[in-house]
Amino acid sequence: MNILAIESSCDETAAAVVEDLPAGRQVALKILSNVVASSTAMHEKYGGIVPEVAAREQLKCIIPTIDEALQQSKIYDLRSIDAIAVTIGPGLIGSLLVGVETAKTMAMATGKPIIPVNHVLAHMYANMVIPSETRNLSQSPLLSETPRMTRGDMFPAISLVVSGGHTELFLMTSHKDLKWLGGTLDDAAGEAFDKTARLLGFGNRGGLAIQEAAAKATKYIGAHLPRPLLHDGSLNFSFSGLKTAILREWQKQEKPSDMIVNAFAVEVQEAITDVLVKKTLTAAQMHNVKSILLSGGVAANTRLREKFLSTIHDLKSTISFHVPPVNLCTDNAAYIASYAFFRGDPVDWHTITAMPDLSVEV
Ligand code: KG4
Ligand code: ZN
Repeated sequence: MNILAIESSCDETAAAVVEDLPAGRQVALKILSNVVASSTAMHEKYGGIVPEVAAREQLKCIIPTIDEALQQSKIYDLRSIDAIAVTIGPGLIGSLLVGVETAKTMAMATGKPIIPVNHVLAHMYANMVIPSETRNLSQSPLLSETPRMTRGDMFPAISLVVSGGHTELFLMTSHKDLKWLGGTLDDAAGEAFDKTARLLGFGNRGGLAIQEAAAKATKYIGAHLPRPLLHDGSLNFSFSGLKTAILREWQKQEKPSDMIVNAFAVEVQEAITDVLVKKTLTAAQMHNVKSILLSGGVAANTRLREKFLSTIHDLKSTISFHVPPVNLCTDNAAYIASYAFFRGDPVDWHTITAMPDLSVEV
């Protein structure tokens, strides 16, 4: 089965083709192509994503992106595609409409089934595809963890999706069965990374800039920042107070040197990752799970990946840890196809509509 997937929920325009392969008793998904067009550089000029600008740009590049994905997959003919998957929400309305209307048109013209996908839930299905690219894999010491996810014995699992707009915990009892356990009460972890990056002078480079600055830190001199809701026993998160604390501490600095910027980056990264790891492990213990799945753009963070592994190791826990390679953490269409394959249901194209506020509380 070949699935063509389309993703346009934020500023990226992405298309991918995946095919399922028998892998022992289980099924594995192979990525045949995964094309992402980003307008990040353009948004840099405006100091953030301007929805209208993003949607106009996506309108221009959606067809070339799909075309490129088909060419790269060597499936040149839509007749060899078995289903079309598309993100219907949550996200920016103008951006979503570009992908949704394109997918509907293709479904109408070809008669192929169309599968609506929830972008946030789909992130976790990046753990279930076999990565095709080798470009970023060397950066990921955890790569070998990923393909194991195709085994059914990973369940039950706790899944943390942590992105620019979401920080959500789920209990996953099979490929299809998800239960939302908790999430952020205000800002997402990615937003705390992004706001800090702007504050420290890194523009729109977000969490990656914080990670890189932290890696250059020579000594620890930053103030101690709060770890919100760390010990409240709930499975909720809150990052807006942390953002305010970061701002307050930063304003105390007069002419911060590179050394101070780097030290700040360390403390911000430590504060955010401490909370993410602790809450996820609390959920894992509460539900007595076999594995933890990490996903979303913030899952690309090397410190977060390391901290999960080292904490699980220190606890002498038998829980296995899974995270996609870096290029499958940030937005792309391969995991949209993966969600469609493992959890999606085809619907009549007439009934599909963009849903900017689509809930993740399944
Ligand atoms: O999943 P994603 O690509 O888009 C959304 O669905 O939001 O996530 C984007 C988020 C941004 O907040 C970005 O700063 C963050 O992921 N991010 C990182 C890293 N790479 C991307 N955060 C921390 N460390 C990274 N290396
Ligand atoms: Zn995302």
